[in-house]
Amino acid sequence: MSAADPVLSLLRPEILALAPYSSARKESSGGRIWLDANENPLTPSAGKPLLNRYPEPQPAELIAQLAAYYAVAENNILVTRGSDEGIDLLLRAFCRAGQDAILITPPTYGMYAVSAAIQIARVVTVPLLAEKNFSLDPTAVLEAITPSVKLVFLCSPNNPTGTLLARDEVVRLVQALLGKAIVVVDEAYLEFAGSPSLTQELVGNPNLVILRTLSKAFGLAGIRCGVTIASPALIGVLQKIIAPYPVPTPVLQAALVAMTAEGLTAARRSVQSLIAERIRVAARLATLPCVRRLWPSDSNFILFEVTDSARVMSATRAVGVVLRDRSRDYGLTNCVRMTIGALEENNAALEVIARV
Ligand SMILES: Cc1ncc(COP(=O)(O)O)c(C=O)c1O
Repeated sequence: MSAADPVLSLLRPEILALAPYSSARKESSGGRIWLDANENPLTPSAGKPLLNRYPEPQPAELIAQLAAYYAVAENNILVTRGSDEGIDLLLRAFCRAGQDAILITPPTYGMYAVSAAIQIARVVTVPLLAEKNFSLDPTAVLEAITPSVKLVFLCSPNNPTGTLLARDEVVRLVQALLGKAIVVVDEAYLEFAGSPSLTQELVGNPNLVILRTLSKAFGLAGIRCGVTIASPALIGVLQKIIAPYPVPTPVLQAALVAMTAEGLTAARRSVQSLIAERIRVAARLATLPCVRRLWPSDSNFILFEVTDSARVMSATRAVGVVLRDRSRDYGLTNCVRMTIGALEENNAALEVIARV
């Protein structure tokens, strides 16, 4: 594709021109005696997997499994250290320090703005419509787009509000922004919404990027395994700037287990039970004296407004229950976010909140 391409033309020119580092594992294939990567043949790791070898940069077996799970082609996928790394890579690929900007829709996930700050990219904000259940304001987003806005981050279901954005509005934005900006739809919590992924819209929308993760539905936050899904051309660019070996061998092993038939069934079951628990917890929260309002959730957490969030936080903290005070987020004064935990954990939280 040429630089006149509607997506590649938005990239930082030096990234477009970059000759990436070529790691030993990228250059080699097959062979019997590996003396190419300055590894140590004497490994202290007992048994399999052997940890003295550098891992495959993008492990083919895992990519194939993820492609099947997300229903996309293998060349649409990049595995990253959590989806947080996907956010960071996009910022570094598209935003020139001190010149370019991203657009976010607060209240939303904090890492978009943090990654922007690290890259010295400006942050343009177009708030979600609080009075309309935190829905998107597509007209305002389009009005806020200038040539310096290279990335639009939409989080659906949104953290911390828990709500799904309207699919048709997101798709219309993606189409309207072709040649102007990349639209990144962060679907970290999508499994809890039971709605189809925007990946179905990838074909024909080369400026659409989708972020997924094994941290939530699969219960694998500890392995740091995220997935960026985009056109093969864009995945190729991100592959140029990602660190040489982003998928450590133990991470690969755990992710492959998650992608087996048993792993997928276990994840589906855990999502179902967390959804049932979310419904139960929301119903109980709604009856508690200090709870003023609570928003419907398509995720594994609930956002609710209380009479005094500081009091709720100190009461819960006193018994070792840790909630998240979202009061400092745009428009969320006295709002608290509670992750849906195990039944006993949720009951412990509800019991304290009931007494505030
Ligand atoms: C909306 C959203 N996106 C991305 C992430 C980061 O997830 P990961 O663990 O894949 O880096 C989070 C983490 O809480 C999140 O809430």
